[in-house]
Order: sequence, then structure tokens, then C-alpha cells
Amino acid sequence: MRYSDELVEEVRTRSNIVDVVSQYVKLQRRGSNYFGLCPFHNEKSPSFSVSPGKQIYYCFGCGAGGSVITFLMQYENYTFQEAMKTLADRAGIQLPEIEYSREAKAEADRKAVLLEINKKAARFYYAQLRSPQGEQGMHYLKGRGLSSEIMQKFGLGYAGKYNTSLYQYLKKEGYNDELLKESGLFSMDERRGVSDKFWNRVMFPIMDANSRVIGFGGRVMGDGKPKYLNSPETRIFDKSRNLYGLNIARSSRKKNLIICEGYMDVISMHQAGFNNAVASLGTALTSQQASLLKRYTDDVLIIYDMDGAGVRAALRAIPMLRTAGLRTKVVDLKPHKDPDEFIQALGREAFEERLEKAENSFLFEIRMLYEEYDMSDPQGKTDFFHKTAERLLRFEDEIERNSYVESVSRIYGISQEMLQQQIRKLAMKGTAVSYQEQREDRTSKRKREKVSGADQAQKLMLTWISNYPGILSQLKPYLKPEHFSNPLYREVAELLFSQLEKGEISPARIIDHFEDGETQTEVAGVFHARLELENPEAMQKALRDVVCSLRESSINTRIAEMPVNDLAGLQKLVQEKKELEQLRFQFPVIEINT
Ligand code: CTP
Ligand code: MN
Repeated sequence: MRYSDELVEEVRTRSNIVDVVSQYVKLQRRGSNYFGLCPFHNEKSPSFSVSPGKQIYYCFGCGAGGSVITFLMQYENYTFQEAMKTLADRAGIQLPEIEYSREAKAEADRKAVLLEINKKAARFYYAQLRSPQGEQGMHYLKGRGLSSEIMQKFGLGYAGKYNTSLYQYLKKEGYNDELLKESGLFSMDERRGVSDKFWNRVMFPIMDANSRVIGFGGRVMGDGKPKYLNSPETRIFDKSRNLYGLNIARSSRKKNLIICEGYMDVISMHQAGFNNAVASLGTALTSQQASLLKRYTDDVLIIYDMDGAGVRAALRAIPMLRTAGLRTKVVDLKPHKDPDEFIQALGREAFEERLEKAENSFLFEIRMLYEEYDMSDPQGKTDFFHKTAERLLRFEDEIERNSYVESVSRIYGISQEMLQQQIRKLAMKGTAVSYQEQREDRTSKRKREKVSGADQAQKLMLTWISNYPGILSQLKPYLKPEHFSNPLYREVAELLFSQLEKGEISPARIIDHFEDGETQTEVAGVFHARLELENPEAMQKALRDVVCSLRESSINTRIAEMPVNDLAGLQKLVQEKKELEQLRFQFPVIEINT
């Protein structure tokens, strides 16, 4: 189900994009647009623009763009519905209840109630920590060096000595046993009845990227076992799809994200100013978590305990991150065990230094490989050499591969020529799996970014029309939506033409006509072709050229697609071509004003 176009339109027109974006990005007026530092990629000089006239934003650096709705979807990671809800609330517009199917509604309701239970539990634990009964928990957390601010930021709490407090509280709030059982916060026992899962522990609420509590980790205050107890997976808690601390780290505006193993590590790092740290949830990193990271960054630093298990976990995580299209480095904290201990012992500057010195993940992999072999033995040496060449072959980009060959040969004293020779030999056998194959999605993205000349002309025309709506009615006798050969641009042109019929042009409405974020971004780009023609004569000439070239390529496409025996059709096209030649010489003067 989706909202009606009218409603989307109302929400959008009552949400000024400049005001909304200003809540997240510092904007400065330049001409008729506003500029700021792009929140979607790292940059030092502003290429992120917001146009109040068109009610859209666009980044000339990374190509992000869209309407005010797209902005919230991209920045807050909201769904279309969530973005609509936020904007409607802000503008004081009442949205109708979305009509779901009965099952979908039941499922959504159940999830909503489970979220509510978790939220109430988090508040309950939070209050307990700060009450006289929570003294022991507070003492423990303070003893680990945590400030009140950081405890508040992460919503830390305390589950007291009695093992039915939460149950009694939530019962009083009116939840039935079935739902409480499903929340994973209780144990149900035939004989002993219901009791709280967590008691006598300090509590770490686990939140999703949108800061909704989905589960808990609870730590004993001392050496008891198990050290941590965690919520089981539930309808709302999927450990493989969430990362601890991401709700804060996602807007850290640092150049990378740090991934570590523990709750305390994340909190310690944040307290020391490294607010870009996240942790996987007591399990090995999953491919879903890797793609989740990729939504927010291109660069990841791994900090795992450098014992056997940690190294194995890192070696498993690296290819996963690489496949997700992330560049990865590995941080060494020796002789300390984890970030928390390191920071407690050596402080933030020393920690920062270690981050700076992080090792390229490929070189880390090779170093770990090196440690597996006995290099004093010729056989060990040979095996290491072969394995290394095999790994190097996985780089398809020759420049990239050569630079790794160079590094590896320098570090391990292997001759570059020999390595290259071995790589060529392996390549002939054609056995290796290339990294490129694992990176399909990145390649296809790059392909999409290559815009052909014909597309460029169509795009330019659409930008002009959106900048100077007045020219469209003048061009109408010569230009039709079907002259746009790119299907997306044609659809945009159709929408523009039909808006013109109704007398008003709104690029933002056109963007929202498309539902998926990728397409919205592409359409936003359409309205932002670079216009470097300021003088009127050049513009006249360019308008003529673009109209004519659009029509010409449209004719050529139709000729190419025409069945060979359709003579009448062919004649018509030849006639059209003649008219086009005439138009070239008698192109009318178009009045350009905004
Ligand atoms: N973990 C868990 N269950 C356990 C032990 C660990 O879920 N019984 C998870 C927790 O998310 C924990 C992480 O694995 O944060 C790392 O465990 P560990 O290194 O043992 O603990 P630390 O994070 O160092 O915790 P602390 O500093 O409190 O000892
Ligand atoms: Mn620790």
C-alpha cells in the first residue's frame, strides 16, 4: 500500500527542503541555491547543493540527490513510509493509517509491541541503575572508568537482585504472558513459573541503526559465569543484521568505521572520542553486517583480540568486507587485549596512533600466511611463495595487483619477477577466483555511472526545462517525450510535459513519483546536469543542437528497429529527417527566463 500522490505532495510542499536539510547540514546561500558539506561522503569543500526552487538536493561530488523525502531515507536510513511519517509530524499533517493485509498487520503489531516491551525494559533497567538499589551496578561501571554522560548515551542500566522485578513491572503495564515470553526477557518454567532472564547484572541495551531497543546484553559484575548473557533472537532481534553502537557511529562523520568485538570496547572508544566504533553481537561478522557497514562507509578498521580466535575471526571477516566493497585495515593493539584495556592503559593519543598505523588487510592476510610456514625449510618457503602468488592473482586490476606484488616482494624479500612469472603461470591455468567476481555489484555501479553522449544531451535538456520552465511551451512543437531514447529520461520527460499541461513544474514531485531510492537519486541527477552556458547566444545554439540531436538519434533508433519491409514507415521517417534538417536552419528564437 502507498500513500496517494496528493498526500505525498501535501507533505512535501509543507516541508521546506532547506529547513529540513539544515537540521543535519550547515548550509550557506550561494546565488539561488544553498551549499554545504555533503553528509553522504567525505569532503573538505562543499559540493552538496540544495535548491529551494526545485525543492531538491544534489551532490556534485558523489551524485547523491533527491527530494526532501529521499533525503531522510538516505540520511536516516528510513523507509519511504518512515520518512513520510517524520515529515508529516513535523508539518502537523495527520496521515491515514496504512491498510495492510490482516497477516501483515498482525505481524507489524506484534513487532511494535515487542519493541515497546524492550523499550520499557530498557527504561526500567536505566532507572534502577540510578536508584539506591542500583548502587552496586553504578559502582561497577564507574570502576571501569565510565562517565555518567557515556552511560546515559548508551542507555546503560542495571537488573537488580530479585529475579521477578521486570516481570512484575511489565505485568502491571498490562502485557500478557505470551508476548512477554516472545520478548526473550523471561524464562518460563513449568514448576517455578516465570522469572526475569537478567538479574544481578549491568545491562547494555542493544539498539538498531534507528535507535530502537531490540535486545540486551547483561554482564556479571565480577568473575561469574557466563560473563555476558544476551537476549535470544526474536522477531525483532536478528543478531546477524545489527551492529552494536551503529545508531551513534552512523553519524560520526569520521572517515571510517571501527569494528570490534565487545560492548565495553565500543563504549570505551566512544568515551575517548572514537565515536565511529561498532561491535558485532557476540558472533562472527556476517555478510549482512558487512553490507550494513557499506551503507555508511567505504573504509573499515578491524580491531579484534589478537589471540588465535581473534585472528581467525579477522581472517574470516576480511574477504566478507572486501566482497561488500569495503576497504579494510587491521589494527594491532599488542601487547593489550582489547581497545578498552588499551585505552585504559595508554590513553587516547596512543590509541589514535595505532589506528593510523593500521595494516592493509591484504598484507595482514599475507603476514598471517607467512606465520603458518616454516621459512627456514625450502619446502615451507616454496609453499608460502605459491600461496602468495595465488592470492595476488585475485586482483584483477593490474595496477592494483602490481602495487601489491611490489609491497609483498619488498616485505618478504621475494623477487618481483619471480612472483609475476608465477602469477602469469597460474593465470594461464585459469583457476583462481578473482576478487572482481565477488565485487559484481560495484562493477555494475561503475557501468551505470558512465553516461553516454546521447544520454548527456537528454539530461541537459531536462535540466534546462526544470531551470527555465518557460522554454518548454516554446519547444513543444519540436520536442516530444518520445524523442528521449533513455527510458528513464523519457518517463521524466512525460511527467514534465504533463505537469506543463497543468501549468506548474515540480521536479521534487517527479522524483517522488519513483519509489526506489536508487532511481530517485538518478532522477535528481537529471535535474542537475552541469550548466556552464551563461551567455544567451551560446544557450540558443545549445538548445537548438540538443533538440536536433535528440530528434536525430530518435529517428536513427527507429530506423534501426524498423522491419526491412515496412516501406511506408521508412518513408515517413525519411520525411521526418528532412523536416529536421529544415528545423536546424530555422530554429526559432527561444525566450529564456526563469
Ligand atoms: N560475549 C558474549 N557472551 C559471552 C562472552 C562474550 O556475548 N559469554 C560477547 C559480548 O558481546 C562481548 C564480546 O563477546 O562484549 C567480547 O567478549 P570478551 O572479549 O570476553 O569480553 P569484553 O568485551 O572484553 O568484556 P569485558 O571487558 O567486560 O570483560
Ligand atoms: Mn574487555
